[in-house]
Amino acid sequence: MAPSNNPDSRTPEPGSNPETGNSPETSAPYGSGPSPAAAPSGGVPGAVPSGRVRLHHLQQAKANGARFAMLTAYEQYSAEIFDQAGIEVLLIGDSASNNVFGNESSLPVTVDELLPLCRAVARSTKRALVVADLPFGSYEVSAEQAVATGVRFLKEGLAQAVKIEGGAYYAPTVRAMVQAGIPVMAHIGFTPQSEHALGGYRVQGRGDDAQRLIDDAVALVDAGAFSVLMEMVPAETAAAVDAAIKVPTIGIGAGNQTTGQVLVWQDMAGLRGGKMAKFVKQYADLRGILGDAARTYADEVRSGSFPGPEHSF
Ligand code: KIV
Repeated sequence: MAPSNNPDSRTPEPGSNPETGNSPETSAPYGSGPSPAAAPSGGVPGAVPSGRVRLHHLQQAKANGARFAMLTAYEQYSAEIFDQAGIEVLLIGDSASNNVFGNESSLPVTVDELLPLCRAVARSTKRALVVADLPFGSYEVSAEQAVATGVRFLKEGLAQAVKIEGGAYYAPTVRAMVQAGIPVMAHIGFTPQSEHALGGYRVQGRGDDAQRLIDDAVALVDAGAFSVLMEMVPAETAAAVDAAIKVPTIGIGAGNQTTGQVLVWQDMAGLRGGKMAKFVKQYADLRGILGDAARTYADEVRSGSFPGPEHSF
């Protein structure tokens, strides 16, 4: 629409700021796509100069003894904030099941529920590597099923890689996916999708069991996995796994000798209430901040002090 010379005669375009007349591209008064990019802070030292984080940057981090950060993300604004904060890898975790969809575990979430979250995260990031979890039941049946689901996450979800849970048994599945062009992150140790088979949330790879995890990691990497994530594994075992494979490792409750670390973002930022796992460190109190904001807003609405003249037309 051509701008009029008379500012009073301008009709705001749909989605434009009625105060300023700015188009949505320069100033959106409410959600209308990704915010303008801010310069990312942080980053894999000496490994990611600019632009999208790729698999080889993570590989370089391992080779250089550098570390990278990974967080879960499930929607536009958190993805955008983490991307701009320089988080190298964003995971659309099946933990969306119990952090977005209100389930008690990661088991119930479906491919069709995760795909739109994945698309939102991918569309809202410019730099982070976007990895999607394949949910329970979407890859276990056969390598063909895993390839088909992986393709959906890259094609419909716009993910750049996928993660599957499981040990050496899944090496043929990983090989088939990698041959189909789907980068695969392997998840070993405590694998939440196998919660019932593992007898609950239990540390894996203690003592003699450490060798099993090393064998799992080696088999999965031989099959083509580009990284290995370890959950709830003793630090010593995780360090031994890291030393046994050339690809980057990522830990959650696995000590500090892995190449990267991952946390569920609502745990990291203190949005989730309740008891936290031992491996969680909370870097903020978003639950407190949001609760205070909501209470103050409600008080002002009830007292009539909001909206004030400055918010009225
Ligand atoms: O789904 C998830 O959140 C995970 C964790 C390892 C972060 O897989």
